[in-house]
Formats: sequence, C-alpha cells, structure tokens
Amino acid sequence: MANARELALQTLTDILIDGAYSNHALSEQIEKNELTVQDKNFMTELVYGTLQHEQLLNFYVTPFFNGKVKAWVRILIQMTLYQMLFLDSVPEHAAISEAVKIAKKRGGQFNGKLVNAILREMTRTPLPSLDTIKDEAERLAVETSHPLWLIKLWSKQFGWEKTIQMARANNERVNVTIRVNGVRGTREELKQKLESEGITCEYGNLSQDALLILKGNVIKTKAFEQGWFYVQDESSMLVARALKPKHHSKVLDTCSAPGGKTTHVAELMRQTGTVYAHDVYEHKIKLIKDNVKRLGLTNVVATLQDATTLNERYESDSFDAVLVDAPCSGLGILRRHPEVKITKQPSDLDEIMMIQKKILNTVAPLVKVGGTLVYSTCTVNRKENDKMVEQFLAQHPEYELDPTLVNRLPEVLHEQTKNGMVQLFPGDYQTDGFFIACLKRQA
Ligand SMILES: C[S@@+](CC[C@H](N)C(=O)[O-])C[C@H]1O[C@@H](n2cnc3c(N)ncnc32)[C@H](O)[C@@H]1O
Repeated sequence: MANARELALQTLTDILIDGAYSNHALSEQIEKNELTVQDKNFMTELVYGTLQHEQLLNFYVTPFFNGKVKAWVRILIQMTLYQMLFLDSVPEHAAISEAVKIAKKRGGQFNGKLVNAILREMTRTPLPSLDTIKDEAERLAVETSHPLWLIKLWSKQFGWEKTIQMARANNERVNVTIRVNGVRGTREELKQKLESEGITCEYGNLSQDALLILKGNVIKTKAFEQGWFYVQDESSMLVARALKPKHHSKVLDTCSAPGGKTTHVAELMRQTGTVYAHDVYEHKIKLIKDNVKRLGLTNVVATLQDATTLNERYESDSFDAVLVDAPCSGLGILRRHPEVKITKQPSDLDEIMMIQKKILNTVAPLVKVGGTLVYSTCTVNRKENDKMVEQFLAQHPEYELDPTLVNRLPEVLHEQTKNGMVQLFPGDYQTDGFFIACLKRQA
C-alpha cells in the first residue's frame, strides 16, 4: 500500500516545481497508486491545504533555513507544518517522524537529519508573527496566501472589506454541488434517489437546480451512471437560466468544454432544437460528448472550433442565443485551484482579455436580431467582466444590456444584479466567484 504523505509530497513537487495543475496531478497519483479511501482523503487534504496556505507556510518556515535547501525539502517542511498547524487529528510527533522517514528515503541520511533538525527547532521556537508585517495589504496577502498584486487589484476594484472576505473565503473547503438533469426528473426525485443510495444532501443555497452534497461520494452512485445529474458549482448553474433558451431554438455555445453549461442549456430545451457546442482543444470535445451521452441528451452537436473563427463556420444572424463562457483568469475559483495563487501573473490577465474581446467581436454578428448574448466568466476582475462588456457595447451599438436578467436569478441576488449584469463574490453564498452579463441584439 502506498504512503499518502509521500505521494502528497510528490504531487506537490509536480505542481510547484513542474507546473502541473493540482486536480490533474492529484488524480494521476490517486489512479496510479493503491490507496484506502481514508488515505486518498488525507492526501487530498495535504495537497490542497499546503497549496492553499503556501505563502503563509513559507513565511513561517523561512527563518528556520540556514542557507539553501532543496526545493522538495522546503515543500516537505511546509507540508509537515501544515499538519502541525491546521490538522487537529494529526499528532505533532507523528507528522515529524513521518517527514523524517520520507526525507531519508528520498534524500538519504543527510536530508533526514536536516528535516528532523528544522522541524524540532520549529517546535521549540515561536514562529514569526504576522504582526511584524506593517503594511495591511502585505499582511493580508501573507495571512491568506494570495499574491500582493491580487490583493491590491481587488482592493482597488471592490474595496478593502470585500477583499478580506474573498481572500479568507478562498481558503475554505469546497462543497460538492450537483445540478439535476431536468430531462430525467425533478430535483426532489433526485434527492430521494440519492438518499436511497446512502447520500446525504440538501437543496442548494442559490440555484433551483442544485443539491448540496453533505456526505457520500455521488460519482459512485447509480444515479450518476444513469445521468441524473452533473457536478457543478451553483454559480455556474445560473448561466443557462440567464440565457433562458426557448424550446426548438438554435443555440451556440462558444467555449463549451467540459460541457457543464452546454448540457444545462440542452436540458432546459427538453431535447428540442440544437445546441452547437465548440471548444478549441480536440481532447476536450470528447469530454463534452461523454457528458452529453451520460446525461442522455439528443440535442447537442459538439465539434472542434476556435471561437475566434466561428464567423467562418456560421452565417450572420444564425442563432437565437449565444453563450460565451469565456476563458478567463479564474480568480473566482481559487478555492478549487489554489496553485493559481502562486502561478498567475498580472500579465496573464492582459493576454486573456485580448482573447475574450476577440471572441465577443467574432460572435456578435451571429446572434439574430432580437436574440440573446450571454457573457460569463469564473473570475473576479472588472476588466474581464463589466468593463469588458462596457467596451463591447461601446463598439456594438446594436446590442444593449438586458435588465430582465434579474427576473431569472434567485431573489437573494436581485440587489447585486445591476442593469443586466451580476458579479458573485467568493464567500457570499459558498459559491465560486462568477460574473454573468445578459445582452440583447436590438438591430
Ligand atoms: C470557462 S471554460 C468553459 C466551461 C464550460 N462552458 C462549462 O460550463 O463546462 C473555458 C473553455 O474555453 C476553452 N477555450 C479557450 N480558448 C478558446 C478559444 N479560442 N475558442 C474556443 N474555446 C476556447 C477552454 O478550452 C475551456 O474549455
């Protein structure tokens, strides 16, 4: 049987040194190795916890290093300190002795002794205090392990209180939420089905389609196999409702993979009309097709196409509704992808904005007069969200914002839905940070 801590260290080095994505690196290790359910959970906790608090752990461990240590040694110390500070269930001596064993196995006696000496010293000496950081933005950045540029960006765009809320919320655990497949049955029926399979769940906080999973692995259920639901954050479930596709209509989904919103739109159309789904990556088209198949949907056509060239494939005025769920900086999903806090650079934001702009300009003529264009992102950055939409409107007078969006959103969001746009913040309703704008083509 594989060792969960050793595999967690390997996963962390894959992510932090070799630039792997956390979800991919973790599932690869889990698939490759024989682990108990308990060990899988522990390993996941170690990987996500260490990544989530990486900057804080780094702040704590740095004074204990004299000279240079190997990158994996630093990560091992951080991962062990994470257990000592955040996991009540792990005794300190167990965390330390396991780390020493791993260090010896991986780097011989020298590294074993080094790790032992550093960790023992940490138990004797107080860790540095956050109060020594005088600047409040820098202090929040370290306390919550966010890059300083992001703390400053949010603070400028949304204010200090909101920034604190978001930064802290990003270190909270993520709930699993699922969306009922309305073609199969109702949310109530799904709840009963899951409960009969030993899953504990309750209705979601925001979406009329959502169930919040409190206990049990939903992916292992018959209901999953039979296509009764799709695993999705509640914020994402609001998009298809915002688009409000009519039965028998023709819908274009420009950036579809893995198909969360495509399938929701198709479900709302109750197997009528067609949803044309595209993505720029070949391997991702398979993900869309697999999801469409599992959910039993017959009104989706998924094909490879770069969204910036969709005007070469379709005539102007072709679609009743177009969804641009754009590639974005992902600053709303840091709870799920904590490595982004470490890897994302401000220059990445400019690059992605160019693509968003290009996609919007390309698809603008494809919407029929009177049709709907929904633009959404899983980010919290005004330049990619409301400012992007404003810029689009300035160049496309044939469009205007659709204030009726508010009627298609849950009541709790009415106050923050302004003139056809809504920004959800991490920490508000236990969802991801998310943005939706609804536009109508007038001429
Ligand atoms: C936010 S994700 C889409 C999520 C999807 N709509 C869902 O609900 O499951 C953005 C998608 O855009 C795709 N993408 C990136 N650049 C693209 C482009 N130029 N054309 C089409 N798709 C693109 C990415 O591969 C990614 O799958």
